[in-house]
Amino acid sequence: MANKPTVNLGILGLGVVGQGVLKHLNRNRKILESRLGVRLKVSKIAVRNKRLKRNVKVNPKLLTEDGFEVVNDPSIQVVCELIGGTTLAKQLTLQALKNGKIVVTANKALLCEHGNQVIRAAKRSEGHIFFEASVAGGIPIIKSIREGLVANRFPGIHGILNGTCNYILTRMQAEGKPFGEILSEAKALGYAEADESLDVDGIDAAHKAGILAYLAHGKWIPMNKMLIEGIREITTSDILAADAMGYRIKHLASVVSDAKKNTLFVGVYPALIPKSHILGRVDDVYNAVCVSGDVVGSTIHIGRGAGQDATASAVISDIADAVFTTQGAGLMNLIDEKNDPLTSTLEELQIASMEEVKSSFYLRLSVIDQPGVLSKVTALMAKEKISIARVVQQLDSKPSNKKVKAAAVLTLTTHQCSESAIERAVRSLKRSSPVLSKPFLLRIAHFND
Ligand code: HSE
Repeated sequence: MANKPTVNLGILGLGVVGQGVLKHLNRNRKILESRLGVRLKVSKIAVRNKRLKRNVKVNPKLLTEDGFEVVNDPSIQVVCELIGGTTLAKQLTLQALKNGKIVVTANKALLCEHGNQVIRAAKRSEGHIFFEASVAGGIPIIKSIREGLVANRFPGIHGILNGTCNYILTRMQAEGKPFGEILSEAKALGYAEADESLDVDGIDAAHKAGILAYLAHGKWIPMNKMLIEGIREITTSDILAADAMGYRIKHLASVVSDAKKNTLFVGVYPALIPKSHILGRVDDVYNAVCVSGDVVGSTIHIGRGAGQDATASAVISDIADAVFTTQGAGLMNLIDEKNDPLTSTLEELQIASMEEVKSSFYLRLSVIDQPGVLSKVTALMAKEKISIARVVQQLDSKPSNKKVKAAAVLTLTTHQCSESAIERAVRSLKRSSPVLSKPFLLRIAHFND
Protein backbone atom coordinates (compact mmCIF):
# COMPACT_ATOMS: atom_id res chain seq x y z
CA MET A 1 0.00 0.00 0.00
CA ALA A 2 2.82 2.32 0.95
CA ASN A 3 4.17 2.89 -2.57
CA LYS A 4 0.87 3.25 -4.37
CA PRO A 5 0.41 6.61 -6.08
CA THR A 6 -2.47 8.79 -4.87
CA VAL A 7 -5.15 10.09 -7.23
CA ASN A 8 -6.95 13.17 -5.93
CA LEU A 9 -10.62 13.51 -6.72
CA GLY A 10 -12.77 16.61 -6.61
CA ILE A 11 -16.54 16.27 -6.48
CA LEU A 12 -18.99 18.90 -7.69
CA GLY A 13 -22.37 18.34 -6.04
CA LEU A 14 -23.42 16.25 -3.08
CA GLY A 15 -27.03 15.48 -3.95
CA VAL A 16 -28.50 12.00 -4.36
CA VAL A 17 -25.80 10.84 -6.80
CA GLY A 18 -22.86 12.61 -5.11
CA GLN A 19 -23.75 11.08 -1.75
CA GLY A 20 -24.07 7.67 -3.40
CA VAL A 21 -20.63 7.98 -4.94
CA LEU A 22 -19.04 8.97 -1.60
CA LYS A 23 -20.87 6.20 0.22
CA HIS A 24 -19.71 3.49 -2.17
CA LEU A 25 -16.19 4.88 -2.58
CA ASN A 26 -15.82 4.62 1.18
CA ARG A 27 -17.54 1.27 1.51
CA ASN A 28 -15.53 -0.46 -1.24
CA ARG A 29 -12.35 1.55 -0.90
CA LYS A 30 -10.11 -1.40 -0.10
CA ILE A 31 -11.11 -3.58 -3.03
CA LEU A 32 -11.29 -0.59 -5.37
CA GLU A 33 -7.81 0.64 -4.48
CA SER A 34 -6.54 -2.88 -4.86
CA ARG A 35 -8.11 -3.17 -8.32
CA LEU A 36 -6.90 0.23 -9.44
CA GLY A 37 -3.45 0.07 -7.91
CA VAL A 38 -3.72 3.60 -6.47
CA ARG A 39 -4.95 5.36 -3.36
CA LEU A 40 -8.12 7.33 -3.98
CA LYS A 41 -8.42 10.58 -2.07
CA VAL A 42 -11.48 12.79 -2.21
CA SER A 43 -9.79 16.11 -1.56
CA LYS A 44 -12.52 18.71 -2.20
CA ILE A 45 -16.29 18.71 -2.55
CA ALA A 46 -18.32 21.66 -3.81
CA VAL A 47 -21.84 22.01 -2.43
CA ARG A 48 -24.51 24.68 -2.57
CA ASN A 49 -24.88 24.88 1.21
CA LYS A 50 -22.16 23.64 3.56
CA ARG A 51 -24.51 23.50 6.55
CA LEU A 52 -27.06 21.16 4.98
CA LYS A 53 -27.50 17.83 6.81
CA ARG A 54 -26.53 14.86 4.65
CA ASN A 55 -27.03 11.09 4.83
CA VAL A 56 -23.37 10.35 4.23
CA LYS A 57 -20.39 10.97 6.53
CA VAL A 58 -18.22 13.73 5.15
CA ASN A 59 -15.34 15.69 6.62
CA PRO A 60 -16.63 19.32 6.77
CA LYS A 61 -13.10 20.57 5.99
CA LEU A 62 -13.45 19.15 2.46
CA LEU A 63 -16.53 21.23 1.68
CA THR A 64 -16.55 24.46 -0.29
CA GLU A 65 -19.41 26.48 -1.74
CA ASP A 66 -17.29 27.52 -4.71
CA GLY A 67 -17.07 24.92 -7.48
CA PHE A 68 -14.19 26.83 -9.10
CA GLU A 69 -12.05 26.08 -6.04
CA VAL A 70 -12.36 22.43 -7.07
CA VAL A 71 -11.76 22.75 -10.80
CA ASN A 72 -8.85 25.19 -10.32
CA ASP A 73 -7.11 23.14 -7.64
CA PRO A 74 -3.82 21.98 -9.21
CA SER A 75 -3.61 18.92 -6.96
CA ILE A 76 -6.92 17.50 -8.22
CA GLN A 77 -6.58 15.19 -11.23
CA VAL A 78 -10.16 13.94 -11.60
CA VAL A 79 -13.29 16.08 -11.28
CA CYS A 80 -16.71 14.42 -10.89
CA GLU A 81 -19.45 16.77 -12.07
CA LEU A 82 -22.62 15.68 -10.31
CA ILE A 83 -24.56 18.92 -10.01
CA GLY A 84 -26.59 18.57 -13.20
CA GLY A 85 -28.10 21.33 -15.32
CA THR A 86 -26.41 23.17 -18.13
CA THR A 87 -25.35 26.51 -16.68
CA LEU A 88 -22.92 26.23 -13.76
CA ALA A 89 -22.20 22.61 -14.65
CA LYS A 90 -21.13 23.67 -18.13
CA GLN A 91 -18.87 26.48 -16.88
CA LEU A 92 -17.22 24.19 -14.34
CA THR A 93 -16.80 21.32 -16.80
CA LEU A 94 -15.21 23.54 -19.44
CA GLN A 95 -12.90 25.12 -16.87
CA ALA A 96 -11.87 21.71 -15.51
CA LEU A 97 -11.11 20.48 -19.02
CA LYS A 98 -9.21 23.66 -19.82
CA ASN A 99 -7.12 23.00 -16.70
CA GLY A 100 -6.27 19.55 -18.06
CA LYS A 101 -8.42 17.62 -15.58
CA ILE A 102 -10.21 14.41 -16.41
CA VAL A 103 -13.93 14.99 -16.01
CA VAL A 104 -16.43 12.34 -15.02
CA THR A 105 -20.02 13.41 -15.49
CA ALA A 106 -23.52 12.01 -15.11
CA ASN A 107 -24.94 15.06 -16.88
CA LYS A 108 -26.91 13.91 -19.93
CA ALA A 109 -28.44 17.34 -20.53
CA LEU A 110 -25.00 18.94 -20.72
CA LEU A 111 -23.73 16.33 -23.16
CA CYS A 112 -26.79 16.16 -25.36
CA GLU A 113 -27.22 19.93 -25.61
CA HIS A 114 -23.55 21.00 -25.58
CA GLY A 115 -21.74 17.80 -26.53
CA ASN A 116 -19.86 19.36 -29.42
CA GLN A 117 -18.44 22.14 -27.28
CA VAL A 118 -17.57 19.91 -24.33
CA ILE A 119 -15.86 17.25 -26.41
CA ARG A 120 -13.98 19.86 -28.41
CA ALA A 121 -12.75 21.38 -25.12
CA ALA A 122 -11.61 17.95 -23.94
CA LYS A 123 -9.72 17.36 -27.20
CA ARG A 124 -8.14 20.81 -27.14
CA SER A 125 -6.63 20.28 -23.71
CA GLU A 126 -5.86 16.62 -24.40
CA GLY A 127 -8.19 15.99 -21.52
CA HIS A 128 -10.80 13.30 -21.14
CA ILE A 129 -14.45 13.20 -20.35
CA PHE A 130 -16.17 10.03 -19.19
CA PHE A 131 -19.95 9.79 -18.99
CA GLU A 132 -21.09 6.24 -18.27
CA ALA A 133 -23.66 7.40 -15.71
CA SER A 134 -25.37 9.69 -18.19
CA VAL A 135 -27.30 6.88 -19.93
CA ALA A 136 -29.24 3.96 -18.44
CA GLY A 137 -27.97 4.30 -14.84
CA GLY A 138 -26.05 1.24 -13.78
CA ILE A 139 -25.95 -0.48 -17.20
CA PRO A 140 -22.48 -0.09 -18.73
CA ILE A 141 -23.99 0.80 -22.10
CA ILE A 142 -21.51 3.52 -23.03
CA LYS A 143 -18.57 1.17 -22.56
CA SER A 144 -20.44 -1.58 -24.38
CA ILE A 145 -21.06 0.53 -27.47
CA ARG A 146 -17.74 2.33 -27.41
CA GLU A 147 -15.52 -0.63 -26.61
CA GLY A 148 -17.22 -4.03 -26.65
CA LEU A 149 -19.16 -3.35 -29.87
CA VAL A 150 -16.59 -1.14 -31.59
CA ALA A 151 -16.49 -3.48 -34.61
CA ASN A 152 -20.09 -2.65 -35.54
CA ARG A 153 -22.28 -0.22 -37.38
CA PHE A 154 -25.55 0.26 -35.52
CA PRO A 155 -28.68 0.11 -37.66
CA GLY A 156 -30.99 0.12 -34.63
CA ILE A 157 -30.84 0.88 -30.94
CA HIS A 158 -34.10 0.62 -29.01
CA GLY A 159 -34.46 0.98 -25.32
CA ILE A 160 -36.28 1.91 -22.18
CA LEU A 161 -34.10 4.75 -20.97
CA ASN A 162 -36.15 6.49 -18.31
CA GLY A 163 -36.50 4.57 -15.07
CA THR A 164 -39.12 6.91 -13.66
CA CYS A 165 -41.46 6.49 -16.65
CA ASN A 166 -40.99 2.74 -16.56
CA TYR A 167 -41.66 2.66 -12.83
CA ILE A 168 -44.84 4.71 -13.23
CA LEU A 169 -46.16 2.69 -16.17
CA THR A 170 -45.40 -0.61 -14.42
CA ARG A 171 -47.25 0.44 -11.27
CA MET A 172 -50.18 1.82 -13.26
CA GLN A 173 -50.39 -1.57 -14.96
CA ALA A 174 -50.08 -3.58 -11.76
CA GLU A 175 -52.20 -1.49 -9.41
CA GLY A 176 -54.50 0.52 -11.62
CA LYS A 177 -53.45 3.67 -9.71
CA PRO A 178 -53.42 6.99 -11.55
CA PHE A 179 -50.27 8.61 -12.95
CA GLY A 180 -50.01 11.46 -10.39
CA GLU A 181 -50.13 9.28 -7.30
CA ILE A 182 -47.33 7.02 -8.52
CA LEU A 183 -45.19 9.96 -9.66
CA SER A 184 -45.05 11.24 -6.06
CA GLU A 185 -43.82 7.84 -4.90
CA ALA A 186 -41.15 7.74 -7.64
CA LYS A 187 -39.91 11.11 -6.42
CA ALA A 188 -39.76 9.91 -2.83
CA LEU A 189 -37.63 6.96 -3.96
CA GLY A 190 -35.10 9.29 -5.60
CA TYR A 191 -35.79 8.03 -9.14
CA ALA A 192 -37.27 11.18 -10.63
CA GLU A 193 -35.30 14.29 -11.52
CA ALA A 194 -35.82 17.39 -9.32
CA ASP A 195 -37.84 18.77 -12.23
CA GLU A 196 -40.25 15.91 -12.86
CA SER A 197 -41.10 17.12 -16.35
CA LEU A 198 -37.62 16.08 -17.50
CA ASP A 199 -38.69 12.50 -16.85
CA VAL A 200 -42.37 12.31 -17.67
CA ASP A 201 -42.28 14.58 -20.72
CA GLY A 202 -39.50 12.58 -22.34
CA ILE A 203 -36.68 15.14 -22.11
CA ASP A 204 -34.42 12.97 -19.97
CA ALA A 205 -34.85 9.99 -22.32
CA ALA A 206 -34.23 12.26 -25.31
CA HIS A 207 -30.95 13.46 -23.76
CA LYS A 208 -29.91 9.84 -23.32
CA ALA A 209 -31.03 8.85 -26.81
CA GLY A 210 -28.99 11.78 -28.14
CA ILE A 211 -25.88 10.44 -26.40
CA LEU A 212 -26.46 6.93 -27.77
CA ALA A 213 -26.93 8.39 -31.25
CA TYR A 214 -23.61 10.25 -30.89
CA LEU A 215 -21.79 7.13 -29.74
CA ALA A 216 -23.27 4.99 -32.50
CA HIS A 217 -23.13 7.49 -35.35
CA GLY A 218 -20.68 10.22 -34.28
CA LYS A 219 -23.23 12.99 -34.60
CA TRP A 220 -24.98 15.15 -32.02
CA ILE A 221 -28.64 15.39 -33.02
CA PRO A 222 -30.29 18.64 -31.91
CA MET A 223 -33.30 18.09 -29.64
CA ASN A 224 -35.58 19.93 -32.06
CA LYS A 225 -34.83 17.26 -34.67
CA MET A 226 -35.94 14.42 -32.36
CA LEU A 227 -39.44 13.07 -31.77
CA ILE A 228 -40.08 13.72 -28.07
CA GLU A 229 -43.27 12.53 -26.38
CA GLY A 230 -43.91 11.81 -22.69
CA ILE A 231 -46.33 9.65 -20.72
CA ARG A 232 -48.59 12.19 -18.97
CA GLU A 233 -51.58 11.40 -21.15
CA ILE A 234 -51.55 7.67 -20.67
CA THR A 235 -54.44 6.44 -18.58
CA THR A 236 -55.00 3.15 -16.81
CA SER A 237 -57.68 2.34 -19.39
CA ASP A 238 -55.09 2.64 -22.20
CA ILE A 239 -52.92 0.23 -20.26
CA LEU A 240 -55.78 -2.23 -19.78
CA ALA A 241 -56.82 -2.05 -23.44
CA ALA A 242 -53.24 -2.66 -24.57
CA ASP A 243 -52.98 -5.54 -22.11
CA ALA A 244 -56.10 -7.18 -23.55
CA MET A 245 -54.52 -6.99 -27.00
CA GLY A 246 -51.26 -8.59 -25.86
CA TYR A 247 -49.16 -5.46 -25.33
CA ARG A 248 -47.45 -3.46 -22.63
CA ILE A 249 -47.15 0.29 -22.89
CA LYS A 250 -43.54 1.37 -22.42
CA HIS A 251 -41.67 4.62 -22.92
CA LEU A 252 -39.41 3.71 -25.82
CA ALA A 253 -36.30 5.37 -27.20
CA SER A 254 -35.20 4.60 -30.75
CA VAL A 255 -32.09 5.45 -32.71
CA VAL A 256 -32.57 4.02 -36.17
CA SER A 257 -30.36 4.55 -39.18
CA ASP A 258 -31.20 3.75 -42.76
CA ALA A 259 -27.94 3.13 -44.58
CA LYS A 260 -29.57 3.25 -48.04
CA LYS A 261 -31.23 6.56 -47.41
CA ASN A 262 -28.39 7.71 -45.17
CA THR A 263 -30.84 8.87 -42.52
CA LEU A 264 -30.93 8.71 -38.75
CA PHE A 265 -34.10 8.80 -36.64
CA VAL A 266 -33.92 9.64 -32.95
CA GLY A 267 -37.15 9.54 -30.97
CA VAL A 268 -38.63 8.86 -27.54
CA TYR A 269 -42.32 8.07 -27.24
CA PRO A 270 -44.80 5.78 -25.47
CA ALA A 271 -45.29 2.63 -27.52
CA LEU A 272 -47.19 -0.65 -27.37
CA ILE A 273 -44.68 -3.46 -27.14
CA PRO A 274 -45.69 -7.11 -27.50
CA LYS A 275 -45.68 -8.84 -24.13
CA SER A 276 -43.58 -11.57 -25.71
CA HIS A 277 -40.75 -9.14 -26.53
CA ILE A 278 -38.09 -8.76 -23.89
CA LEU A 279 -38.61 -4.99 -23.73
CA GLY A 280 -42.26 -5.62 -22.86
CA ARG A 281 -41.10 -7.49 -19.80
CA VAL A 282 -38.64 -4.95 -18.42
CA ASP A 283 -40.45 -3.43 -15.46
CA ASP A 284 -40.12 -1.01 -12.56
CA VAL A 285 -37.09 1.22 -12.51
CA TYR A 286 -35.17 -1.06 -14.84
CA ASN A 287 -33.81 0.17 -18.14
CA ALA A 288 -33.03 -2.00 -21.13
CA VAL A 289 -31.18 -1.30 -24.33
CA CYS A 290 -31.36 -3.57 -27.39
CA VAL A 291 -28.39 -2.76 -29.58
CA SER A 292 -28.28 -4.27 -33.06
CA GLY A 293 -24.87 -4.32 -34.63
CA ASP A 294 -24.17 -5.34 -38.21
CA VAL A 295 -21.40 -7.64 -37.04
CA VAL A 296 -22.60 -8.93 -33.68
CA GLY A 297 -26.37 -9.12 -34.31
CA SER A 298 -28.68 -8.26 -31.42
CA THR A 299 -27.47 -7.66 -27.90
CA ILE A 300 -29.59 -6.82 -24.87
CA HIS A 301 -28.46 -4.90 -21.83
CA ILE A 302 -30.68 -4.65 -18.74
CA GLY A 303 -30.21 -3.09 -15.32
CA ARG A 304 -31.37 -0.43 -12.91
CA GLY A 305 -31.73 2.80 -14.80
CA ALA A 306 -32.21 5.20 -11.92
CA GLY A 307 -31.52 5.54 -8.24
CA GLN A 308 -28.56 6.46 -6.09
CA ASP A 309 -26.70 3.16 -6.06
CA ALA A 310 -27.02 2.22 -9.73
CA THR A 311 -25.86 5.67 -10.79
CA ALA A 312 -23.00 5.62 -8.27
CA SER A 313 -21.85 2.31 -9.73
CA ALA A 314 -21.56 3.91 -13.18
CA VAL A 315 -19.82 7.06 -11.87
CA ILE A 316 -17.27 4.96 -9.99
CA SER A 317 -16.58 2.93 -13.16
CA ASP A 318 -15.71 6.21 -14.85
CA ILE A 319 -13.52 7.20 -11.91
CA ALA A 320 -11.70 3.91 -12.51
CA ASP A 321 -11.21 4.76 -16.20
CA ALA A 322 -10.01 8.20 -15.19
CA VAL A 323 -7.53 6.65 -12.76
CA PHE A 324 -6.16 4.35 -15.47
CA THR A 325 -5.77 7.36 -17.70
CA THR A 326 -3.80 9.24 -15.02
CA GLN A 327 -1.53 6.20 -14.68
CA GLY A 328 -1.22 5.77 -18.44
CA ALA A 329 -2.34 2.17 -18.10
CA GLY A 330 -5.23 -0.23 -18.46
CA LEU A 331 -6.41 -2.48 -15.66
CA MET A 332 -4.20 -5.45 -16.48
CA ASN A 333 -1.08 -3.27 -16.64
CA LEU A 334 -1.61 -2.14 -13.09
CA ILE A 335 -1.99 -5.55 -11.56
CA ASP A 336 1.18 -7.21 -10.41
CA GLU A 337 1.15 -10.69 -9.01
CA LYS A 338 1.67 -9.66 -5.41
CA ASN A 339 -1.08 -7.14 -5.70
CA ASP A 340 -3.58 -9.07 -7.80
CA PRO A 341 -7.01 -8.18 -6.37
CA LEU A 342 -8.42 -11.50 -7.45
CA THR A 343 -5.89 -13.72 -5.74
CA SER A 344 -5.56 -11.54 -2.66
CA THR A 345 -9.33 -11.43 -2.21
CA LEU A 346 -9.65 -15.16 -2.74
CA GLU A 347 -7.16 -15.84 0.04
CA GLU A 348 -9.54 -14.20 2.50
CA LEU A 349 -12.60 -15.92 1.08
CA GLN A 350 -13.79 -19.29 2.26
CA ILE A 351 -15.35 -21.68 -0.22
CA ALA A 352 -18.97 -22.19 0.84
CA SER A 353 -19.73 -25.71 2.05
CA MET A 354 -22.52 -27.59 0.33
CA GLU A 355 -24.44 -27.40 3.60
CA GLU A 356 -24.53 -23.63 3.18
CA VAL A 357 -25.48 -23.54 -0.49
CA LYS A 358 -29.26 -23.31 -0.61
CA SER A 359 -31.62 -23.70 -3.51
CA SER A 360 -35.12 -24.83 -4.38
CA PHE A 361 -35.40 -27.95 -6.49
CA TYR A 362 -37.49 -29.61 -9.11
CA LEU A 363 -37.56 -33.38 -8.70
CA ARG A 364 -38.99 -35.88 -11.19
CA LEU A 365 -39.65 -39.42 -10.01
CA SER A 366 -41.14 -42.44 -11.70
CA VAL A 367 -43.03 -44.42 -9.04
CA ILE A 368 -45.42 -47.35 -8.68
CA ASP A 369 -48.94 -45.96 -8.63
CA GLN A 370 -50.50 -47.46 -5.51
CA PRO A 371 -51.75 -46.31 -2.09
CA GLY A 372 -49.10 -45.06 0.32
CA VAL A 373 -46.42 -44.21 -2.27
CA LEU A 374 -46.80 -40.44 -2.03
CA SER A 375 -46.57 -40.58 1.76
CA LYS A 376 -43.36 -42.67 1.54
CA VAL A 377 -41.81 -40.13 -0.78
CA THR A 378 -42.80 -37.14 1.35
CA ALA A 379 -41.64 -38.91 4.52
CA LEU A 380 -38.16 -39.31 3.02
CA MET A 381 -38.11 -35.62 2.15
CA ALA A 382 -39.38 -34.68 5.62
CA LYS A 383 -36.59 -36.74 7.21
CA GLU A 384 -34.14 -34.33 5.57
CA LYS A 385 -36.29 -31.36 6.67
CA ILE A 386 -37.12 -30.54 3.06
CA SER A 387 -40.39 -28.75 2.62
CA ILE A 388 -42.39 -29.52 -0.53
CA ALA A 389 -43.86 -26.60 -2.43
CA ARG A 390 -45.88 -28.40 -5.15
CA VAL A 391 -46.66 -31.92 -6.30
CA VAL A 392 -48.04 -32.93 -9.68
CA GLN A 393 -48.84 -36.53 -10.60
CA GLN A 394 -49.25 -37.81 -14.16
CA LEU A 395 -49.63 -41.25 -15.66
CA ASP A 396 -46.30 -42.87 -16.59
CA SER A 397 -47.15 -44.59 -19.84
CA LYS A 398 -43.64 -45.98 -20.33
CA PRO A 399 -42.38 -47.17 -16.92
CA SER A 400 -38.84 -48.52 -16.98
CA ASN A 401 -39.99 -51.62 -15.08
CA LYS A 402 -42.36 -53.45 -17.41
CA LYS A 403 -43.65 -55.74 -14.65
CA VAL A 404 -45.30 -52.84 -12.83
CA LYS A 405 -49.06 -52.65 -13.47
CA ALA A 406 -49.50 -48.90 -13.00
CA ALA A 407 -46.82 -46.26 -12.78
CA ALA A 408 -46.90 -42.51 -12.30
CA VAL A 409 -44.54 -39.61 -12.84
CA LEU A 410 -44.34 -37.41 -9.76
CA THR A 411 -42.91 -33.94 -10.15
CA LEU A 412 -42.17 -32.13 -6.92
CA THR A 413 -40.80 -28.70 -6.26
CA THR A 414 -39.26 -27.86 -2.92
CA HIS A 415 -38.80 -24.74 -0.86
CA GLN A 416 -35.18 -23.75 -0.28
CA CYS A 417 -32.99 -26.40 1.28
CA SER A 418 -29.30 -27.20 1.28
CA GLU A 419 -27.63 -29.07 -1.55
CA SER A 420 -26.48 -31.75 0.84
CA ALA A 421 -30.02 -32.31 2.21
CA ILE A 422 -31.46 -32.83 -1.26
CA GLU A 423 -28.56 -35.12 -2.19
CA ARG A 424 -29.29 -37.30 0.83
CA ALA A 425 -33.01 -37.33 0.01
CA VAL A 426 -32.32 -38.33 -3.60
CA ARG A 427 -30.03 -41.14 -2.45
CA SER A 428 -32.78 -42.49 -0.15
CA LEU A 429 -35.42 -42.14 -2.86
CA LYS A 430 -33.27 -44.08 -5.30
CA ARG A 431 -33.13 -46.98 -2.85
CA SER A 432 -36.81 -46.77 -1.99
CA SER A 433 -38.91 -49.64 -3.42
CA PRO A 434 -41.74 -47.68 -5.08
CA VAL A 435 -39.24 -45.54 -7.02
CA LEU A 436 -38.74 -47.13 -10.44
CA SER A 437 -35.83 -45.19 -11.93
CA LYS A 438 -33.12 -42.73 -11.04
CA PRO A 439 -34.67 -39.49 -9.69
CA PHE A 440 -34.09 -36.49 -11.92
CA LEU A 441 -33.16 -33.24 -10.16
CA LEU A 442 -32.96 -29.63 -11.36
CA ARG A 443 -32.27 -26.44 -9.45
CA ILE A 444 -34.82 -23.64 -9.56
CA ALA A 445 -33.00 -20.37 -10.14
CA HIS A 446 -33.46 -17.55 -7.66
CA PHE A 447 -32.28 -14.08 -8.44
CA ASN A 448 -31.72 -11.56 -5.70
CA ASP A 449 -33.59 -8.81 -7.49
N1 HSE B 1 -34.43 10.34 -13.68
C1 HSE B 1 -33.74 9.39 -14.45
C2 HSE B 1 -34.65 8.23 -14.76
C3 HSE B 1 -32.54 8.82 -13.75
O1 HSE B 1 -35.74 8.15 -14.22
O2 HSE B 1 -34.27 7.39 -15.56
C4 HSE B 1 -31.28 9.53 -14.01
O3 HSE B 1 -30.91 9.50 -15.34
